[in-house]
Amino acid sequence: MLPTQSSGAGRFAELDLSRLPSPCFVIDEIKLTENLQILKDIATAADTKILLALKAFSMWSLAPLISDYLAGCCASGLWEAQLARKYFAGELSSFAPAFKPSEIEEIATLSSHVVFNNLSQHANFADITRQQGADTGLRINPQHSEGQTAKYDPSMTGSRLGQPLEQLMQLDLPEIDGLHFHNLCEQGLDPLARTVAAIEPYLAAQKGRFKWLNLGGGHMLTQPDYETEALITLLKRLRSDYDAQIYLEPGTAIAFDAGILVGEVLDVADNDGPIAILDISATCHMPDVLEAPYRPALINETPGDGVTVTLGGPSCLAGDVIGTYTLPERPISGQRLAFLDQAHYSMVKTTTFNGMKMPSIAIWNSQTDALKLVREFDFGDFERRLS
Ligand SMILES: Cc1ncc(COP(=O)(O)O)c(C=O)c1O
Repeated sequence: MLPTQSSGAGRFAELDLSRLPSPCFVIDEIKLTENLQILKDIATAADTKILLALKAFSMWSLAPLISDYLAGCCASGLWEAQLARKYFAGELSSFAPAFKPSEIEEIATLSSHVVFNNLSQHANFADITRQQGADTGLRINPQHSEGQTAKYDPSMTGSRLGQPLEQLMQLDLPEIDGLHFHNLCEQGLDPLARTVAAIEPYLAAQKGRFKWLNLGGGHMLTQPDYETEALITLLKRLRSDYDAQIYLEPGTAIAFDAGILVGEVLDVADNDGPIAILDISATCHMPDVLEAPYRPALINETPGDGVTVTLGGPSCLAGDVIGTYTLPERPISGQRLAFLDQAHYSMVKTTTFNGMKMPSIAIWNSQTDALKLVREFDFGDFERRLS
C-alpha cells in the first residue's frame, strides 16, 4: 500500500460541501495557481521549460490559467495532442511506447517534439516527423531503479519503456534532436540526482549532440519539502554542461493538493464493523486506490478517536473498497464526505462501469468562495461510449 502524499485539507476544510452536486471533483483555482507559481519560479531561475503532463490532469477549462505559467504540454498520443493544441498554448512534446502509423503524421504536425520509445520507432517515424516540422527525441531507459513498486518503475528488469542505456552505449546514434527519460514517481530531488548520475557517462560521451534534454515527470516540485534550490543548481549545471535546453514534464506536481472528490453516504450497514456505501466508487472514480494501491486521505478524519468505518463504492465489485477511516461519529445517509488530493490521475481515469455516473467538475476560488460548476454528466455520456 503506497502512502498518500497529501499535506492535508488546507483551505478545502472551509468549503461547504452541501453546495455541490454529488459526486463532484472540486478544483481550487487558488491552490492550483500557487502550484503554478512555484513551477514558474523554478523554470525562470533554472532557465528550464516546464510542460504539463496531460495524462495526469487534463482540465481544459483551466487551460488559459495554466498556459499563463507553463511552457506547454506533453501528450501520450493523438487525442491528448489534439486537446493540447485546441485549448493550451506553448510547446507540445508527444511520447508513446509505440505510435500508430495511421496517426503519426497528425501527431507530428501538432507536436513540437515527438519522443520515440526506441530506435526502431525512430527508424520508422523520424523522417515523417521532421517533414512535419517537429523535433525527434529518443526515450532512454536509465536502467537505474528508484521506484518503490515495479509497476511504477520504468527501470524495472524487462521494462518496455525506453531504449536501455546499456544498448545505447554500444550503438552509433542516428540524428536525434533530444533525449528524454522518465524514471520517477512522486519523488524528490535525490532520486532525480541519482538517475542523472546514472546517465551522465553517456551524456558526456555524446556532448553537444542534443538540442534538448527532457527529464520527464514524477518530480514532486510543489510538495513543501522539495529541495528546490538544489534542483535549480542541478538543472543549471545540466544546461551549461551539455549546452541543451532542459525540460521537465510533471503532472502530479501541477495539481497536487488542488482538488478533492466530494461524495455522499448512501447507506450504513454492519458486518464486522460499520460499512458505509458511498456514491463514490474506487474502481470507477479513483481507480488508483485499487491499482497503486493506496488509501486516499479524507477530510475530517479523527485517527485514534471516534468510530472506525469502512467506506466502499456502489459498484458490484466485492473489492470496491476505498479504505477504513476513523470519523468523529458513525456516518449517516446523506452525509457529505471528501477525499483529498484527487485532482490528478482520478478525473482523467473515471469509467462508467456498472452505468456509474461520472463525478461533476467544479472550480472553487478559495479566496472569494465563488463556485462554478463546469461539467455535469448525464445518461447521454454513458450511451455515447457504447453501441
Ligand atoms: C513519460 C511521462 N512523462 C510525464 C509523466 C508525469 O508524471 P507525474 O504525473 O508523476 O509527474 C509520466 C507519468 O507517468 C510519464 O509517463
